[in-house]
Amino acid sequence: MKATAIAPANIAFIKYWGKKNRELRLPLNDSISMNLSACLTTTTVDFSKKYKKDEVILLLDSGQVLRSRGSQDRGARMTKYENKENQRVIRHLNLIRKIGKINLLAKVVSTNSFPKSAGIASSASGFAALTVAGCAAAGLRLTEKELTILARLGSGSACRSVPDGFVEWKYGEDSNNSYAYSLYPDNYWDLRDTIVLVSDKAKKTSSNEGMENIWTSPLMEKRLKEIPGRLKKIKLALKEKNFSLLGTTCEEDCFSMHKVANTQKPPIFYWTDKTEKIIEQVKSWRRNGLEVYFTIDAGPNVHLLCESKNEAKVISAVKQFDSKLKYIINKPTQGARIINDS
Ligand code: PMV
Repeated sequence: MKATAIAPANIAFIKYWGKKNRELRLPLNDSISMNLSACLTTTTVDFSKKYKKDEVILLLDSGQVLRSRGSQDRGARMTKYENKENQRVIRHLNLIRKIGKINLLAKVVSTNSFPKSAGIASSASGFAALTVAGCAAAGLRLTEKELTILARLGSGSACRSVPDGFVEWKYGEDSNNSYAYSLYPDNYWDLRDTIVLVSDKAKKTSSNEGMENIWTSPLMEKRLKEIPGRLKKIKLALKEKNFSLLGTTCEEDCFSMHKVANTQKPPIFYWTDKTEKIIEQVKSWRRNGLEVYFTIDAGPNVHLLCESKNEAKVISAVKQFDSKLKYIINKPTQGARIINDS
């Protein structure tokens, strides 16, 4: 009862920012995203009688091994934050055990293709990989739709990392109707998302916490009214491969989400000075004829969107701006999948 799955992180073109049901992670709006080829989580779940407790192990790129508290093994102890994340993993295992009607304890080993210190949220790829590996290990054969619903219960955006390529998450009136599906496969449109790593510090406010106070922002209602129009524009842009429409709409939605966060009580500012400088650069690159747009999730890192034909130009512009900046180049990619089932 052991299986390994790989799952990508995703970047939202239209963002999920606010829940109408906290426990079920039902969002207030539909969202659309693209899976990221270079930001992958690989997770093995092993249910076995030999385990006397659930154990969660995170292998870091530095070679360090983070183990959940209570483990007898050697290795670095998790921080309080990491331990909290692990409790979420164990809660998710409990859900899988309940559906699969098994009571075996598990060992979960997870590794990210991107450095943990990069400040890229790994909850989407993490919970998508955990769901797919966990269900396979438990002998559950769920449909893709069912897997997206289960992944959503671990982390909202994780449901968008299950289907392939370009994905829509329907907000749904209840849990069974809040699922994700592929709008287009990964090879549909050769886009690039270059993530410029602005800060390697863990963000102070998680997206979960950030979403708690959305209704204290006077701009939230306006945001929700505008979203259907932007969803239509993104769908049209994808259908017609209209990159300017895609890019301008992504920027609008990014500003809208961050303005809500900035005006919540207490306000949340995910951007740093560097983030804003890069946004200014993007605008200036565009004025000079390079078609590149930005979007930013709940953190300071800037996602630069361009078509593949402009990848080299975008990288050279980033290097010219600051040769020390680190970046990760992503293409659209497949969703979560089993890579080894034993
Ligand atoms: O699923 P969470 O709790 O990691 O929330 C993700 C929220 C954003 O990244 C800010 C937007 C999105 O839709 O991915």
